[in-house]
Amino acid sequence: MATGMVSWRNVSLVALLSVIAYNFHTPFSVANLEPSLVGKVAIVTGGSRGIGKGIAIGLGESGATVYITGRTLTSNSTNTGGPAGAPQAGTLEETCAEVVKAGGQCIPAAVDSGNDDQLRQFIDQVIQDHGKIDVLVNNAFSAVSWLPKHAGKPFWEKGADAWDAVNHVGLRSHYLASVHAAQHMTKAKSGLIINVGSLGGINYIFDVAYGIGKAAMDRMANDMAIELATDNVTMISLWPGIVATENVQDGALAPEDLKERRGLAPGPKVDSASLVQTPLAETPLFVGRAVAAFARDRTKFGFSGKVLLPALMAAGYGFVDERGLRTPPPNSLKFAASVALQSTLKDQGLLAAPVELFKPSQPSANMELYWNRLPNLIIPGFVLKLMAGAPNL
Ligand SMILES: *[C@@H]1O[C@H](CO)[C@@H](O)[C@H](O)[C@H]1NC(C)=O
Ligand SMILES: *[C@@H]1O[C@H](CO)[C@@H](O)[C@H](O)[C@H]1NC(C)=O
Repeated sequence: MATGMVSWRNVSLVALLSVIAYNFHTPFSVANLEPSLVGKVAIVTGGSRGIGKGIAIGLGESGATVYITGRTLTSNSTNTGGPAGAPQAGTLEETCAEVVKAGGQCIPAAVDSGNDDQLRQFIDQVIQDHGKIDVLVNNAFSAVSWLPKHAGKPFWEKGADAWDAVNHVGLRSHYLASVHAAQHMTKAKSGLIINVGSLGGINYIFDVAYGIGKAAMDRMANDMAIELATDNVTMISLWPGIVATENVQDGALAPEDLKERRGLAPGPKVDSASLVQTPLAETPLFVGRAVAAFARDRTKFGFSGKVLLPALMAAGYGFVDERGLRTPPPNSLKFAASVALQSTLKDQGLLAAPVELFKPSQPSANMELYWNRLPNLIIPGFVLKLMAGAPNL
């Protein structure tokens, strides 16, 4: 009978077989990595704090020369990005000090990504100084505190402000930075551009403008990669999971805000805020180590156009975070099972893993066994789309 063809039993069976088949090989291998990024020039936009800071330090650990941009050069810079216009933690100079400590070189650049002229002049300056750009990481995002502040309001009440607050820097500036960088990379027949995307690229998370921006970041990587391919330039979109940044640790994922959002729930509900101090949240440095390893991968061109997840790369490339742990990818059965079994994991002493950003610590043997050795069982992309209810597949 026709209805039997699409029963949940059949769908589950296909999903299970896909997971098993997909997990037979990992395309990420430490054997493909260049020994270091010494002599490579990288740009990370939005490097004062958060994921951008972790990426800058990760690249620094591999010896790269890292330019970081942002509006907060020193602690006395104008910085109104925090709640109620308060300054946020972190400055470019502080990040640079940590990049240098990690083994890299670092140049802080006071650049507002939302200002087209400043962005172009900055890229010109890098070319003047070094004659090349090896890696561009499009990361700047100016709406980290705007989003929770406006949670619960529908798009028709937020109007065009939402679009500008989220996507002027969070999308448009990345298109522009890619335009400028690609002019040099294509001439050099070498280069890597990484868009920092999110699971919000597949379905609703915080806000309509946010989802549109993140979907566009993925699509930008896909479509630019097609044109860049003739010139040996690689472009991908990277989806960190829940990341324990300074702002998130300060409550940017406050559950009250998220619970109050209106509309239908897309997919299973995850209380992200409760996961921040567990191995289910990635640290910014974990994301940075993924970027550095990928930049070192001689076979990276083979991934061009794709969406990649840091946690998907960790085991193959052989890196851990500063806690000595590997967060399972949000698109894995291990992640889903660990969320569902939180209280059991807690009883076994496997859940509490406080994030002290950039401070190395040693995991217990049991933690190491559960989080680093037990297989992740990745769910393939097309199954994930179905599960996320991707409405327009
Ligand atoms: C701003 O702070 C830096 C150190 O972070 C200091 O060197 C500089 O003098 C300060 N400038 C002003 C105008 O206070
Ligand atoms: C493509 O770029 C990589 C580095 O990104 C380089 O190692 C390789 O030689 C380049 N290939 C060609 C054909 O230019």
